[in-house]
Amino acid sequence: MCGIVGAFSRRGAVLDGMVEGLRVLEYRGYDSCGVAVADGERIEIRRKVGRLSELEKLLADGALAGARIGVGHTRWATHGAPSDENAHPHSDGSGRLALVHNGIIENYLELRRELEAEGRKFSSETDTEVLSHLVGRELARGAKLVDAVRTSLARVHGYYAIAVMSTGAGGGLVAARQGPPLVVGVTPDAAYLGSDVLALLPHTRDVVYLEDGDVVELSPGHYTVTDLAGKPLERKPRRIDWNAEQASKGGYPHFMLKEIHEQPDVLARTAFDRILSDSGDVSFEHGDWSDERLRALDRVQVIACGTALHAGQVARYLIEQFARIPVDIDYASEFRYRDPVLAGRTLALAVSQSGETADTLAALRLARQLGATTAAICNVMGSTVVRESESTILTHAGPEIGVASTKAFVAQVVAAFLLAVRLGRARGTLSVEQGRELLDELRRLRPRMEALLAPATIERTAAIARAHVDAKGFFFLGRGVNFPIALEGALKLKEISYVHAEGYAAGEMKHGPIALISKGMPIVVVNAPGAVADKVRSNLHEVKARGGHVISVGSDAASHELADETIEVPATIEALSAVLNVIPLQLFAYHHALARGCDIDKPRNLAKSVTVE
Ligand code: F6R
Repeated sequence: MCGIVGAFSRRGAVLDGMVEGLRVLEYRGYDSCGVAVADGERIEIRRKVGRLSELEKLLADGALAGARIGVGHTRWATHGAPSDENAHPHSDGSGRLALVHNGIIENYLELRRELEAEGRKFSSETDTEVLSHLVGRELARGAKLVDAVRTSLARVHGYYAIAVMSTGAGGGLVAARQGPPLVVGVTPDAAYLGSDVLALLPHTRDVVYLEDGDVVELSPGHYTVTDLAGKPLERKPRRIDWNAEQASKGGYPHFMLKEIHEQPDVLARTAFDRILSDSGDVSFEHGDWSDERLRALDRVQVIACGTALHAGQVARYLIEQFARIPVDIDYASEFRYRDPVLAGRTLALAVSQSGETADTLAALRLARQLGATTAAICNVMGSTVVRESESTILTHAGPEIGVASTKAFVAQVVAAFLLAVRLGRARGTLSVEQGRELLDELRRLRPRMEALLAPATIERTAAIARAHVDAKGFFFLGRGVNFPIALEGALKLKEISYVHAEGYAAGEMKHGPIALISKGMPIVVVNAPGAVADKVRSNLHEVKARGGHVISVGSDAASHELADETIEVPATIEALSAVLNVIPLQLFAYHHALARGCDIDKPRNLAKSVTVE
């Protein structure tokens, strides 16, 4: 999704820092980029379709290097194809205004006709340019920038994060939010804006999260937040415990590989200091996780998208098993439009890495309107999902930059495991002893994850992935907690390797998809000893009998004996096997994509944080 940066400095130049900020936001996905800066009255805009390196070529002459105020943007096309003309920043043709935007202006056609009728000339196909003309019109009428922005936004339907700069009397740097995230950071000599705290970390760790309806005016060392009517609002900075180092590759060739390797630490950070060994229980920090509250629940409704949805599916198995509460799960994008019925006392549980996914947020809001208690499993403190949920379990995965989610998924599954234990203990379906055994086993996962990440183990997985580099398609099969792991393994491969891969519940194969199996087709079967292991083995026989080439992943020795190739995973209890089994599947996708020469950290067509519908 689009990324915004902005800076206003008393003394220092801002351009290089803004370009670095855009580089940090690259992971969100983009197809063009641009900057606008002013050093005096005239605003200079440079923008380019393609990667940031193309924009840097335009800036290489150093002509803009001294500017002290600017805005920048990475664009992920919605209205209008990726092109130099459609790239942001946009202007109104006056040379004294520049605007960047993330989101969609729904009534832009109507506004464009109105502005064109007044003689205003448009130079792009974007909805954004309408906003720059609206603001420009107000400035031409003598308004201060902040007032011009407020008046213009009152005309707009849709959702947006914008940053606008103008020169001349009453000019400066103003931003506003209605939907997509925007954060502000201020130092004694400067003020910064970003779509993501990662872009601010080189400058400050004290950040202000804007809320929907906020308008902020920035100047070096200061920020003032008001609502759309101009009423002052208090927005205090929060201290972020991430650092700029965490947002670098740390010597790995790709963020995805670095993040896969971080997973043993992510487990420890997300779980270990929440474990109460004496009572076989768990404590959470944010919100009301009391026995009384949890005993009152009749059901849980999980809402999420993509990889987070797969973590939610694991949560369903765990919560139903440990706490005996019915759990429903739905794609957030379906839940929000299917006029859902939430019977009884429901806990709506949003699972999200970013906490800004538009569909997840809308589904969460709808669940609250329908009377549900709300909770989130989320990785970003201060994100909208966290702020709008009554209770939160923060996953401490640290910043996830690789577009294909890995460590955030493991953290979500671990958080779901902790929640299932907490619910089981609160509702008396788990004894102290049972809770303790489960949590002890969780602790024991760390060295097992490390074993999976040992160089020799990785190389075996990589060799299998490379051996199938020309395969036309894959199946990933699993049952129970390993069914969502099969889905996740297939999703990872699709995302970064662009190969067709189907994740399926192993028992469903014979109801249709088995017809797709032809001789030599690679079938990844995920299995762990437990309630459904022998059923999975029967399914494995079925695909083998049709000529499938079986790659067995997991700790079920009997499955390995039947398979053509094996990826051995250390043993654990069935409920936790998902946490271990996903790691070789992440590595499989990574090495398959590497062998195919794909752009692993920036897969085509994908955005990291999907803040539009
Ligand atoms: C897949 C992936 C996406 C996200 C999905 C939800 O690797 O990253 O499927 O899981 O877009 O995003 P969050 O978790 O930020 O709500």
